[in-house]
Amino acid sequence: MSDERAGITSSALSPEEKALDITLRPRALAEFIGQAANKEQLRIFIEAARKRGDVLDHVLLSGPPGLGKTTLAAIISNELGVNTRATSGPALERQGDLAAILTNLESGEVLFIDEIHRLPRTVEEILYPAMEDFKIDIVIGKGPGARSVRLELPDYTLIGATTRVGLMTGPLLTRFGVSLRLDYYPVDEMENIVRRAAGILDIEIDEGGCHEIARRARGTPRVANRLLKRVRDYAEVEADRVITEDVARGAMAMLQVDEVGLDVVDQAILGAVIDKFSGGPVGLKTLAAAVGEEPDTLEEVYEPYLMQIGFLKRTPRGRVATPRAFKHLDREPSGRSDEALF
Ligand SMILES: Nc1ncnc2c1ncn2[C@@H]1O[C@H](COP(=O)(O)OP(=O)(O)O)[C@@H](O)[C@H]1O
Ligand SMILES: [Mg+2]
Repeated sequence: MSDERAGITSSALSPEEKALDITLRPRALAEFIGQAANKEQLRIFIEAARKRGDVLDHVLLSGPPGLGKTTLAAIISNELGVNTRATSGPALERQGDLAAILTNLESGEVLFIDEIHRLPRTVEEILYPAMEDFKIDIVIGKGPGARSVRLELPDYTLIGATTRVGLMTGPLLTRFGVSLRLDYYPVDEMENIVRRAAGILDIEIDEGGCHEIARRARGTPRVANRLLKRVRDYAEVEADRVITEDVARGAMAMLQVDEVGLDVVDQAILGAVIDKFSGGPVGLKTLAAAVGEEPDTLEEVYEPYLMQIGFLKRTPRGRVATPRAFKHLDREPSGRSDEALF
């Protein structure tokens, strides 16, 4: 599996986006906006582990890209006051890659594995005893002389992050003591995120401007941060610097971000399902080819939000545009006989 196809995770972000992520990353749990139920669980588990002098149980963070998984992993280490070693599923090609990291951990440290669903199966297998019993068995040598050696590991906390919890195996899932799912943020929380980012970046924005960006950011903090920077550019050139509702609206028109926050790719996906495939059903690969995106990118980045807002459905026979999507794109209803699907 090659890495280039991804286009989706932090490993595939542009340098500008990476730098922005880091600048705007909250450092403490109290600074992390929204996700109240998840935050409360983490606060209690972290506090309890600290009080007992234990390591925190292994934590799995799942959800669409840009919602704060990497941020939360860093916050957990900060709150525990320990070091983090960070790696990712695709980077761990052989058992030895993971064994080297595990045996170099110091007691109490956090090991962060991003995109953990892309860990090769053979590597995943050594994680089972490493998570459960803090031990690994490695084979030394080859052929008849090969022997298995058991190594004791220090106590540590594994934090895994994934955009595709559905692709993870049962044995791996069950070894996480804490599993938290991040969901798209409601508009009021998105407003707080935009306001906070504007403060850090020293951008002048009023309440109307803040609301306009927040409601069009697809419930995703990373999208909000990116839009905020682009709207600032527009405000500096086309207005008097301050981001008001009008300025934000003008900027969104320039950026081709529509009323509900769909960008050109979202619009192309819905347009293709409706115009080229009569509203669907259409298979993932066919649809991806029609819009010139990778199937994985479509599935991990674009579809979850389109489904969340009720514009797209996954059916056993493929993707289907809903009547709401037809209406949004100003298309005549398809008159399909399978309206009963909805
Ligand atoms: N709850 C939050 N509050 C404030 N900013 C956030 C929050 N969640 C994410 N962000 C911002 O969004 C960016 C992307 O978050 P990140 O943790 O990299 O997402 P993920 O790892 O889930 O793709 C971060 O740099 C951070 O600035
Ligand atoms: Mg990440």
